Amino acid sequence: MSLFWRIFGLNAVVLGTATGLLLWAPVTVSVPVLLTEAVILVGGMLVMLVANAALLRLALAPLDRLTRLMTTVDLLRPGQRLPAHGMREVADLIRTFNAMLDRLESERAASSGRVLVAQEAERRRIAQELHDEVGQTMTAILLSLKRAADEADEPLRGELQQAQEITRGSLDEVRRLVRRLRPGVLDDLGLVSALTSLTTEFAAHTGLRLLRRFDTDLPALDPQTELVLYRVVQESLTNAARHAGAGRVEVSLSHTDGALLLAVADDGHGTGIGHEGAGIRGMRERALLVGATLDIVSQPAGTQVRLTVPAEKKVP
Ligand SMILES: Nc1ncnc2c1ncn2[C@@H]1O[C@H](COP(=O)(O)OP(=O)(O)O)[C@@H](O)[C@H]1O
Ligand SMILES: [Mg+2]
Repeated sequence: MSLFWRIFGLNAVVLGTATGLLLWAPVTVSVPVLLTEAVILVGGMLVMLVANAALLRLALAPLDRLTRLMTTVDLLRPGQRLPAHGMREVADLIRTFNAMLDRLESERAASSGRVLVAQEAERRRIAQELHDEVGQTMTAILLSLKRAADEADEPLRGELQQAQEITRGSLDEVRRLVRRLRPGVLDDLGLVSALTSLTTEFAAHTGLRLLRRFDTDLPALDPQTELVLYRVVQESLTNAARHAGAGRVEVSLSHTDGALLLAVADDGHGTGIGHEGAGIRGMRERALLVGATLDIVSQPAGTQVRLTVPAEKKVP
């Protein structure tokens, strides 16, 4: 039924009922009107208005729901849809809105996918250059310093050795940077080794206690999914160290019927994620890229980031 006839019908029902009551009820209206008659008439009108408002509210509820979804919908949490029923115009509107969300979600997933692929390529290029150019040069400097230190006398020798130490420290830093930019271990040794080395290094760097629980029978994953899992762990660990004030973080990878589950849980003070920053939005975009879902539960007892990757991945 169309919106026009629905509202017309509601009004007709209310007015018809009132007229029927007036016709059959033993009421008379005197001139001038008596107080009791006025009270009955005003009361009847109030009942009519309330009935009309209630019926209209009921009929227009789908529009309210639509407005609410329009103001809160988030393309990084796909799948929020409304059932398309109710009056014809409203059902049409909801169906059109749902179709628009379908299109926007797939366009959003495709464009953020392109951005992420480009970003990873750029990171690889920078890592390569750091490794090949800066790394090589620093290694050469280190060798020269060593030679010079071997031939020099004190106190110059001590100073050269100190310069050697500083250079070695910087070289380590460059290597760490390269590893962070391009998790080469991922290509060479696979996800579990890459995560083991990431967590070990992270624990050494931050002093946090790290627990790993990786299932042994994990299914083989394509490189893109592995990289997504790696980046989600990287960001979750950074958040645990930066925001949670945690003492312990547990990283687990498990495999249940048809889905791979990654969980990073800290024991810090989670206060609910009020405002999602670039880090969490980035994790959501990466999850979309491989058809996975990301859930974050942040409670006073700690924060848990869970990424569920379906075995039958839909890669947009
Ligand atoms: N493990 C965590 N424990 C407590 N709060 C967190 C945790 N992770 C994220 N948050 C909160 O969520 C916010 C958004 O995180 P994120 O999107 O990674 O942005 P950023 O790390 O750049 O601030 C953080 O500013 C922080 O308040
Ligand atoms: Mg962050």
